[in-house]
Amino acid sequence: MEGTREPRLRAVGSYCSIAEADDLDLSRLLDKPRLNIERQRSFDERSLSELSINLRGLDAADSIYSPGAAGRSGFDTPGSSTWHSFEPHPMVGDAWEALRRSLVSFRGQPVGTVAAYDHASEEVLNYDQVFVRDFVPSALAFLMNGEHDIVKNFLLKTLLLQGWEKKIDRFKLGEGAMPASFKVLHDPVRKTETLIADFGESAIGRVAPIDSGFWWIILLRAYTKTTGDLSLAETPECQKGMRLILSLCLSEGFDTFPTLLCADGCCMIDRRMGVYGYPIEIQALFFMALRSALALLKHDAEGKEFIERIVKRLHALSYHMRNYFWLDFQQLNVIYRYKTEEYSHTAVNKFNVIPDSIPDWVFDFMPTRGGYFIGNVSPARMDFRWFALGNCVAILSSLATPEQSMAIMDLLESRWEELIGEMPLKICYPALESHEWRIVTGCDPKNTRWSYHNGGSWPVLLWLLTAACIKTGRPQIARRAIDLAESRLQKDGWPEYYDGKLGRYIGKQARKFQTWSIAGYLVAKMMLEDPSHLGMISLEEDKAMKPVIKRSASWTC
Ligand code: GLC
Repeated sequence: MEGTREPRLRAVGSYCSIAEADDLDLSRLLDKPRLNIERQRSFDERSLSELSINLRGLDAADSIYSPGAAGRSGFDTPGSSTWHSFEPHPMVGDAWEALRRSLVSFRGQPVGTVAAYDHASEEVLNYDQVFVRDFVPSALAFLMNGEHDIVKNFLLKTLLLQGWEKKIDRFKLGEGAMPASFKVLHDPVRKTETLIADFGESAIGRVAPIDSGFWWIILLRAYTKTTGDLSLAETPECQKGMRLILSLCLSEGFDTFPTLLCADGCCMIDRRMGVYGYPIEIQALFFMALRSALALLKHDAEGKEFIERIVKRLHALSYHMRNYFWLDFQQLNVIYRYKTEEYSHTAVNKFNVIPDSIPDWVFDFMPTRGGYFIGNVSPARMDFRWFALGNCVAILSSLATPEQSMAIMDLLESRWEELIGEMPLKICYPALESHEWRIVTGCDPKNTRWSYHNGGSWPVLLWLLTAACIKTGRPQIARRAIDLAESRLQKDGWPEYYDGKLGRYIGKQARKFQTWSIAGYLVAKMMLEDPSHLGMISLEEDKAMKPVIKRSASWTC
């Protein structure tokens, strides 16, 4: 019944409380109607008050400003801030200019940003397209700056594209698939503009982007939460778009795990890198998208059915991830001593992982204090590599318990050189080399060791790191990382990625003026300046999803 529905999303304003309905106890949703619940002091609020103390201790938090923005609130204009009276970092203005240069318009309306605006590069490939995943940091920057329309236009245009029939050769893709990217075609003779989209049928490797639909739902929640405008999410079109995405990933099949089975290259790492199976990036985004959808779906007949399926899946997924993907010193020791070939329900080594398959590097890499979600878990296979995006999203979505979130931050601090080095942030660690590189990447010359997807450093990840730092109450880590980026990023022309063990060299084939490097920096700056922005991209811990797991040393100290 409409009248009993609680307002599920509220606008995030500067300095306002961002306690949310995201911390709903999921089990209640299954059997009881929604009631108005007395809000508890949220995690966001808690970290916010801690931050205001921490921030005072930080050196010169630069005030953010954006030239050329229309219709935004006054808090971010130069001189309007009473909180910080510092001069903005000179890079901020340059970044906003570069971000605006990347804007793409369709029939007079801004609808997205191109992946890179690199005139010096001879080869455009598809970097002149609007990528769904690449647009997310741009969208967050615009939302934080009070420019909501572009995000709304983007959400609506991509929703229309979802409605297209998608075919690769003679095979039809699932109805809910969202494009990896789209482009506006101008016909100067007819003076018309049309959209073309790529759902994987043109992409290198012909892989459909599983992450696009998840990012779309996450962005719809960010938009709704920032603007307080529920009307977009509640349109029949948006509700249907969400349901179509959800149908694709909630369908039943031969799966024995609640995680989502993926092909290599279906996410940010869009090339063969051995992430096929159950990659952490997709599982974390899946979890976040499910939780976001839960807040956005209407409780009508169709919506309710999905809500029930989501709630069940979230329970199973969080249990699976928190238990089987989690690795810390103690768990590593358990796996090291695993018996194999165990049959039946009493098996400890459920996936029959052979301890000899544990790579040598992980024994040295694992600190006594700290932990992380490993890259992949499937029968007899654990990919022990660290992946930045998945771990940060696990923190933001509260897939990680508060203890696990802290342990991830501990790991980042104790393995600073390996994971951050001289340019934040390694996409994964460590790199694949020699024979392994040949077998796993198929001899990909772009993904040689410590380059691109194979252990390269991606400045875009700075926004995710910063958000995770704020959520865990560790803004000083973000500050350190931002300082590193500020020493080079603009001078180097906003590269897409850096190479080398420490991320010292501009990537051998990196684009310059890569939009998400620019937007990622701006989002990181704005979030650190005003931590209440965190609410648009962070979800509270769900009390009903407590893990059944033994505590490790890193959890208690
Ligand atoms: C590269 C990245 C991918 C990104 C695209 C456009 O292919 O791997 O994640 O979306 O470039 O920037």
